[in-house]
Amino acid sequence: MNTTPVSEYDDNEIVNDSPNEHMDAILAARLSRRGALKGGIGATTAALLGGVGLSACGGSDDDGDTPTTPAPKGLSFAAVAKNKDDRVTVPAGYQVSILHALGDPMQFGDASWSDKGDESAESYQRRIGDGHDGMYFFGMKDGKFDAGTSASGLLCVNHEYVVQPYGLHAAGSTTVDGKRPAAEVDKEIYAHGASVVEVKRKAGGNDMEMVRGSKYNRRVHSATPMDMGGPAKGNAKLVNKLSPTGTEAFGMNNNCACGYTPWGTYLTCEENYLNVIGRAAGDDAKRSASEIVALKRYGLPEARKNPYGWDTPEGEQYKRWNPKVSAASAAEDYRNVFNTFGWVVEIDPFKPDSKPVKRSALGRFNHEGAWPAPAKVGESIVIYSGDDARNEYVFKFVSEAKWNASDVNGGMAVGAKYLDKGTLYVAKFNNDGSGEWLELTYGKNGIDEKNTLYPFADQADVVMHCRLAADFRGATKMDRPEWGGVNPLNNEVYMTMTNNSARAADKLDAANPRTGNTNGHIIRWREEGGQAGTKFKWDVYLFGARVDGKQSENLSGLTDVNDFSSPDGLYFDQRSAGAGGLLWVQTDDGSYLDVTNCMMLAALPGQVGDGTKPTTKDGQATIMGAKPTDATVRRFLVGPVNCEITGVVVTPDGKTLFFNVQHPGEGAADFATNTFTSHWPGNQAPASDTAHAGHKRPRSATVVVTRTDGGVIAL
Ligand code: FEO
Ligand code: CA
Ligand code: CA
Repeated sequence: MNTTPVSEYDDNEIVNDSPNEHMDAILAARLSRRGALKGGIGATTAALLGGVGLSACGGSDDDGDTPTTPAPKGLSFAAVAKNKDDRVTVPAGYQVSILHALGDPMQFGDASWSDKGDESAESYQRRIGDGHDGMYFFGMKDGKFDAGTSASGLLCVNHEYVVQPYGLHAAGSTTVDGKRPAAEVDKEIYAHGASVVEVKRKAGGNDMEMVRGSKYNRRVHSATPMDMGGPAKGNAKLVNKLSPTGTEAFGMNNNCACGYTPWGTYLTCEENYLNVIGRAAGDDAKRSASEIVALKRYGLPEARKNPYGWDTPEGEQYKRWNPKVSAASAAEDYRNVFNTFGWVVEIDPFKPDSKPVKRSALGRFNHEGAWPAPAKVGESIVIYSGDDARNEYVFKFVSEAKWNASDVNGGMAVGAKYLDKGTLYVAKFNNDGSGEWLELTYGKNGIDEKNTLYPFADQADVVMHCRLAADFRGATKMDRPEWGGVNPLNNEVYMTMTNNSARAADKLDAANPRTGNTNGHIIRWREEGGQAGTKFKWDVYLFGARVDGKQSENLSGLTDVNDFSSPDGLYFDQRSAGAGGLLWVQTDDGSYLDVTNCMMLAALPGQVGDGTKPTTKDGQATIMGAKPTDATVRRFLVGPVNCEITGVVVTPDGKTLFFNVQHPGEGAADFATNTFTSHWPGNQAPASDTAHAGHKRPRSATVVVTRTDGGVIAL
């Protein structure tokens, strides 16, 4: 999410001013939870929400440093022109279909989307959520994860947020006497989170459809019970009325991008959870000095209004959305609920009854995603992530346990093995092109109780407040880290820096070298001493820019064929058939909308150090990769009006590509006449697609792209 209405959390808000360089019902649910869990997650979450109705919710390469993935042959499609059409535009010879959109029923027994916003809140436990974002396809064979299977699998999709103007309600979002109607809030709580659906190829082609009624189809949302894992599990700073032991969390929020594990589980990451959290005036007086430091650094000052107003309906179950001190002890109120958000959540899509776990060892911040390097037998699992806010950081997690390939399909127990113990690092990008990973471990390098910035009590405190530990270590403040990915050809790591119009002229560095970086850039680095090493070499692969030169300097020499602004989604195609190293880049942009809707490009990048060392017009020296050509970076598609293009994954055989359209038509609506700035996907779906054709309300959706001749995508 990039463009944000004023009533919502502004993800451009800067909370890093560090000096370094740069319920009645809930209690009832608590008491009955053990029994409810046995009855299925749907029942439990319904109880947690105050009895809105019990539902029938259904239930690499491993040979060291020599990459074996073959290099791609070259981009084979004709570039798509920039445009503002209210449709998805793909190259000649390609076709699209809608896999699922907001509100589509995943099970039988619920009515199809009415286009009136009158679906019940309760039914959203079994409907596709809103704000499609990060996504991953897990090939499935005989009910198990199989990384080589393309024809059927499980597709996990994040539902980041409910899109203004809230097309899932009859007449948009409403507030009466300062209070949101409980039914609207409940619907929003269920429309967040993630979905897991079984998908399979349609007869006679590579197009895919959702298997409605599959036992794997599942929703995880903002009230789903979860366990805490890792160092923070059971910590006093997580204790609250819902979890007096601090070992559980209830719901996940604003899950933006994602990740996946080699053992076949999905990682989904909490980003702008401040969208649904407020804090009362006067609460600071009841908090310790260190608590106030932590709350401020994580963007939650006292007297902060809950942007979505989830704390406004009457009822115990809504109080947790305003975590304040209101009782004698933490176990009797919700003061610590804020600390239960901002994590990486692991979900086992192959076991619909499994309980998700928040993996605290990977740190707490505005987690964009969690991207693994290819697993190598006998080496640590390495996962990269970015804290998407202006002037925040890039992180890396290195597991203590070494990869054993027999752990594939081991589910949540294997997740605990690799993700609950390890070392968290933060990145420092030096101006000379070198870089280092700064360790964030309690008891080392001054990260302890005596720290004057923040008194760290233990490793739980370090991961929970790793922004403060990173400030202290002198991490580099970046231009909003978004998606990352590891090139399977050479293990180099790429990460988008979407934009930072607040990058001041006197705060430039080589890794963030443009004043008022409106169009963003993509940085990359090569680890030294293996993926788990603590030093690296970096350069900027591409600088985003408009070809008309009206905004950020066009350092990379982009052309009409490949110019872009605000890179966000990024994904290295893992397909086995010669496409290793094919990179997909997606945009979430507000700066080029006068010319084009958001887009997706395909690229064949080189490697760190293959370019030059220019100086920007702002006078900052930087290090840049080889300039792209029309042959090496090319626009593959353009989305409909007022959307973000996000989430991309390709089947292992390279013949089916999924991507997401988030928030088409965001921001303006006339519900009386169902008139919006976009009518997608209803205006593009063919009449044969009765679930989507002809509808007027814009809906976030997953799109399937295939070649009409059945060939592989893009090559
Ligand atoms: Fe939800 Fe950072 O994009
Ligand atoms: Ca974004
Ligand atoms: Ca994003």
